[in-house]
Amino acid sequence: MGLVASYGGKALESAMLNHEIEHTQRELLLKLGEVCESRSKDTGQHVRRMAEYSYVLALKIGLPQEDADLLKMVSPMHDVGKVSILNKPGKLTDEDFVLMKLHTDVGHDIFKSSKGRVMSTAAVVAWQHHEKWNGQGYPRGIAGEQIHIFARITAVADVFDALASERVYKRAWDIDKVMKLFEDERGRHLDPQMVDALVACLPEILEIRDQLNDPPGRF
Ligand SMILES: [Fe+2]
Ligand SMILES: [Fe+2]
Repeated sequence: MGLVASYGGKALESAMLNHEIEHTQRELLLKLGEVCESRSKDTGQHVRRMAEYSYVLALKIGLPQEDADLLKMVSPMHDVGKVSILNKPGKLTDEDFVLMKLHTDVGHDIFKSSKGRVMSTAAVVAWQHHEKWNGQGYPRGIAGEQIHIFARITAVADVFDALASERVYKRAWDIDKVMKLFEDERGRHLDPQMVDALVACLPEILEIRDQLNDPPGRF
């Protein structure tokens, strides 16, 4: 009896430790994501919205809870590579744009040597989130299901947030205009399945957007 109780105690202790580690990991990734975004033109709220949008979409397409949790943890890191690329106000020149595209490879390089599940997933998402379903994206021009499913989800979340939330340099688009773009890009830039998932859970997505909005008065 005593032995069982002691095993039970150990299991509980280790479950609590795992929970604590995962919580810390999630917080660290979110903070790191915020730091990177603060160097770019986006905001800390962008990475928080990315975490939530990706999570909702992952569950909507039927990924297991464990995968949805993992994606929620890593999607805020999608632009981590920008940390060493770009910190420049105003319009980008063609040359800047070529350089900026490198943030995908840089992000991949930052995480790729890590063997753990979280970091290696972060490496893939950072690397592939600008690939397009039709193969016209970057850095490698891979297409369809060659693109990791997490990166296909992150791409939808990222495009949605770029259009549907206010940025330093632009106002939010009207939601009808946003959804028209998704209709047009379904099967071109974006995986049709992910676009359908976005349409299906739009009310939930809009609620997240409105809860995690950016401070007003930025214009
Ligand atoms: Fe990016
Ligand atoms: Fe982004």
